[in-house]
Amino acid sequence: MKRLFTMFMVLTMALTISATSFAAEPHIIPQPSYIEMHEGEFLVTPKTKIVVYDDAWDAAEVFAADMQMFFDSKKPMPCVKRGSGIKVRTDNNIPAEGYELYVQSHEIFVTGGSEAGIFYGLQTLRQIIVANNGAVPCCFIADEPSFAYRGVHMDVCRHFFTVDEVKRYIDIIAAHKVNRLHWHLTDDQGWRIEIKRYPELTTKGSMRKETLIGHGLNPEQWDGTPYGGFYTQDEVRDIVAYAQKRCVTIIPEIEMPGHAQAALHAYPWLGCHEQIVDVWTTWGVTPEVLCAGKETTYEFLENVLAEVVELFPSEIIHIGGDECPKDRWKECEHCQAKMKAEGLESEEELQGYLVARIEKYLNSKGRRIIGWDEILEGGVTPTATVMAWRGAKIGAYAAERGNEVVMTPLPICYFDFYQTESREGEGLRIGGHINFEKVYGWDPYEGITDEARKNIIGVQCNVWSEYLKTMPMLEAQLLPRLAAMCEVQWAVDRRNEETIRQKMETFRKFYDANGWNYAPYYFEGRR
Ligand code: ACM
Ligand code: ZN
Repeated sequence: MKRLFTMFMVLTMALTISATSFAAEPHIIPQPSYIEMHEGEFLVTPKTKIVVYDDAWDAAEVFAADMQMFFDSKKPMPCVKRGSGIKVRTDNNIPAEGYELYVQSHEIFVTGGSEAGIFYGLQTLRQIIVANNGAVPCCFIADEPSFAYRGVHMDVCRHFFTVDEVKRYIDIIAAHKVNRLHWHLTDDQGWRIEIKRYPELTTKGSMRKETLIGHGLNPEQWDGTPYGGFYTQDEVRDIVAYAQKRCVTIIPEIEMPGHAQAALHAYPWLGCHEQIVDVWTTWGVTPEVLCAGKETTYEFLENVLAEVVELFPSEIIHIGGDECPKDRWKECEHCQAKMKAEGLESEEELQGYLVARIEKYLNSKGRRIIGWDEILEGGVTPTATVMAWRGAKIGAYAAERGNEVVMTPLPICYFDFYQTESREGEGLRIGGHINFEKVYGWDPYEGITDEARKNIIGVQCNVWSEYLKTMPMLEAQLLPRLAAMCEVQWAVDRRNEETIRQKMETFRKFYDANGWNYAPYYFEGRR
């Protein structure tokens, strides 16, 4: 790509040597690798053709539909095989997710290393079109991401979001060039995915009797209203296909062995004591966890995952692994017998045994596992990917021991936290404080040796939904902090404290044009 660049620059410099007035650099989030401005402009209208040379129809059609919404036109922009307009094509000299955007006054070329690259090139073009009402200054932009894994998490267990809301969330993250949706589908407070072999996971496990109000400090209170919801397998397929069209891979999370009280409610035989427990109505960490001693638990988990892998093409499957108290295992004859039989010296090693068995099973299906960083405690295999959440130091440790790591450490990546120090007007949130500036200034490589850096495959923010009951609330936790996060994910070495505020003033209008709800604090200067 560098060679192409150099040739291109020489050529364009020669052609534009007499130019007098170049437009200012467009404000693009996240910041592209290279921008060169030329003279003139191309006016994109609802009738501009998108000429698709290679098989990039999905990227072209998504762009056409987004533009239809922006222009409020009767029809989407036409996607055709021949003609003049916005020409999209692939070039394998460009990195797979990279692109070049070449705007001339008579045509625009969007050239990607793959369809994903074209998609991102079109997202950049979309931002320029929206900012200038269709007038795109002539320019050459070359761009590629810093991290291969650029994730956003969505918790549909604590509060449920409809199919359309999940799709809207995907629209939002894809516009930020995020390529992974970590979909947290099962937890103590609700099981949200239909599993044909175990229907009671959803007929019983998707509903809780009521929900805790507030933080549950003394005196605790519940709202008395049943709450639930789940996705059928057809709905899951529909969402997965929708995400794929937007270059988002959905990583499903099936929590084990902790955060599984909803499953225990449906099938009490999954637990150590087998007594009936409710779908949990409280937030936090429950002692009710899956029994790791009984073979029936492993059979259940494998049967669930067999259906999950049929629904999700993602190479990696999230198996949870966080916050699993060991109280029940210590008292359980099955768990203790399993430890003895397998020569395991602690309950942590028993969890490691469970994770290793599940990893082996998923490997047999051609998949790999990712888990929250507690999976390190039981002596995890080097092939598991570790999602570092309890702190950046744990991520550094995992990367140094050779595991691939996704950095999502507390507090910086916890977008359920308050956004201002004063908390004024924010409503009740879980706690903490993370504002736009902290995210933008974060160095995900801090404390990581040069050698271990290559194991940091990506960065993710998490949006736990205990206190986020509605889509507008969820959006305002995500935006605008996701704009800062995507600069870390896509443009880690290109961040600029001096220009970001101006860029965000433009990007805010992009949010407005799309009708996305965002928190006002950053724009009000509140930290
Ligand atoms: C987590 O926040 N419990 C992964
Ligand atoms: Zn047990």
